Amino acid sequence: MRPLVTSLREITSGPAHEARSLLDAQFAGRQGYIGKEIRAYDTVTSTNDLALEWAAAGAPNGAVVYAELQTKGRGRMGRAWSARSGLNLTFSVVLRPVLAPDRWNLITIAACVAASEAVDSFTAPVCTQIKWPNDILIDKRKCCGMLLESAGAGQASSASRTVILGMGVNVNEDTFPDDIERQATSLLLATGRPVHRAHLLAALFDRLEQALNRLEEDAVVVEKRYMRRMYNLNAPAELRFAHGSGSVKGIVAGLGEAGGLLLATGEGIRTFHAGEVMTIRNPCGSRLT
Ligand code: BTN
Repeated sequence: MRPLVTSLREITSGPAHEARSLLDAQFAGRQGYIGKEIRAYDTVTSTNDLALEWAAAGAPNGAVVYAELQTKGRGRMGRAWSARSGLNLTFSVVLRPVLAPDRWNLITIAACVAASEAVDSFTAPVCTQIKWPNDILIDKRKCCGMLLESAGAGQASSASRTVILGMGVNVNEDTFPDDIERQATSLLLATGRPVHRAHLLAALFDRLEQALNRLEEDAVVVEKRYMRRMYNLNAPAELRFAHGSGSVKGIVAGLGEAGGLLLATGEGIRTFHAGEVMTIRNPCGSRLT
């Protein structure tokens, strides 16, 4: 498994189509630290795996592992993430956060704001919403997901702590497997227009950098931006816990401490840090309000 490129500036001789796309991202004029170093592959197990390995070997803050195809792409709650080569975006960013580990979930919050705003800039007038904690939806269907994994949370020095932010975006996909067909969409399906993947990648890097900077200055600003886009806000929902370990019903009341979900339940307003939010529908299928 040989990287196609190790830095955007070395791509010029690379014949591969995906490397070419990354070069285009450089042409789009980005200067930031995210994506300054990129390792791009045709096929990997999971970009998160390679990013974790690279991070352990000293990858800098903002280094990116990009792949056209993952054979073992993973999502939250033990789910798989699969995406066809040549049509979508799958990548992982190595982050060396200054934030304390008990606030790392806020990185997901910032990344969702970034992804939602970046996608909107390509899909207007069609808009995305954010389903807590980390799904980007268009018209109730998922077009983008994120997976945060970490290493070294117990280390005293922030330089030894690593967060890997993995992101998958359904960009120009036009078909999904039967089991997810009704829950998934792509930017192409939602708008009828193909999107230039490298331009979207550059926009994602830029917005992510801005949102992470903002998070360090003032997390409340980022949380407000998240809540403005929050799917199910003020609506009844059921939060289901992993591995069938129960659920709780309530009204989605916003974001709580450290990026948790605020749910107004029969026992008052409670904050949750894990689970899957399901919309509660009445027997006729329309949403309760
Ligand atoms: C989810 O929706 O549950 C999260 C999906 C995250 C998918 C991305 S694709 C790039 C990175 N590599 C992985 O194996 N997963 C993330």
